[in-house]
Amino acid sequence: MNYTHKKKVDKQNIELINYLPNIGISSVVKEITEGLNTTPKTISPKFFYDGKGSDLFEQITHLKEYYPTRTEKKIISSLGEKLDVSFENLNVIELGSGDSSKISLLFNQISADELKTVTYFPVDISQSAIEKSASELIQQFTLKNITGIIVDFFHQLKLIPKPGRRLFCFFGSTIGNFDTSQARDFMKQLGSTMQRGDSLLLGMDMVKDISVLESAYNDKKGITAEFNKNILNVVNNLIDSDFSTSDFKHYAFFNGKKNRIEMHLKALKDVEVNLGSEKIHISKGETIHTENSCKFNLDDIEKFGMWAGLKTAQVFNDPNKWFSLVYYRKN
Ligand code: SAH
Ligand code: AVI
Repeated sequence: MNYTHKKKVDKQNIELINYLPNIGISSVVKEITEGLNTTPKTISPKFFYDGKGSDLFEQITHLKEYYPTRTEKKIISSLGEKLDVSFENLNVIELGSGDSSKISLLFNQISADELKTVTYFPVDISQSAIEKSASELIQQFTLKNITGIIVDFFHQLKLIPKPGRRLFCFFGSTIGNFDTSQARDFMKQLGSTMQRGDSLLLGMDMVKDISVLESAYNDKKGITAEFNKNILNVVNNLIDSDFSTSDFKHYAFFNGKKNRIEMHLKALKDVEVNLGSEKIHISKGETIHTENSCKFNLDDIEKFGMWAGLKTAQVFNDPNKWFSLVYYRKN
């Protein structure tokens, strides 16, 4: 998560542009410090994803309890001819691209001749994730070009290029990590940057049995707990604080009123933390709220489209209807 160095890398057909320095480290320090001074204390989930956090998330996606990744991957793998889009000269923009493993399942279903005309833009806050995935992808496929964009997609959506007709992909139900008002703002922003003929493939994790949901965020190997605690190391590096991960335990549960999994870090004892120049107190049992993972109903599919001014063109599901992949069009 590189907020200080504007780095432009050109190798093979890969170009990387880091726009995080436009936000600047001082506003990141301010955002984190303010979150830790509110009640309840919060840290934004975007701070999970340093190099280690991105690796831990990738490990989560392979856990048997974590059904969303394999469910969505099966849906993408069986799209075949059903997805009503032409890939000829298409610009594929993947928001929160992570390891890019889902886009590679889509590219696998496109002819080599068409792929040669496709430009891929992985967009992520994690520079290490983009560097790794872009160099793997270029070995696997012959694309026209790959341009990695390192941004905070909530605040810097306007910086994403408009080189022609675009297909946005926002997989993983990462939209669920926004609360309702953030999701509305995000969909509005996205819809307004989209042009006629552009489209969006959005992954949405649906409401289901609580035991399935809670197991997915409380895996037996403790990888989700490690991922959750690692946010404190990321914060220590960004704002020069002195959190100790051993003072906290992972706490994740389904909030049925808000249809969301909440992840928190619960203090195991009274803790004093230095945040650069100031000090905060966290009482034993108090939590820091690190993530919401909202789960959706069918109504939400239309609602998101309405917020963005997009038409719901196609909806793809798994047989259990645990996950929806929605194809929206801007007409
Ligand atoms: N799409 C992948 C990865 C999902 S994990 C999948 O479905 O498996 C969420 C991804 O979004 C991570 O790679 C993380 O680095 C990225 N991300 C989270 N918040 C972000 C933000 N505010 N701006 C840009 N990327 C963000
Ligand atoms: C990236 N995001 C959609 C994941 C989720 O399920 O909300 C992040 C995650 N948190 C814990 N496990 C996975």
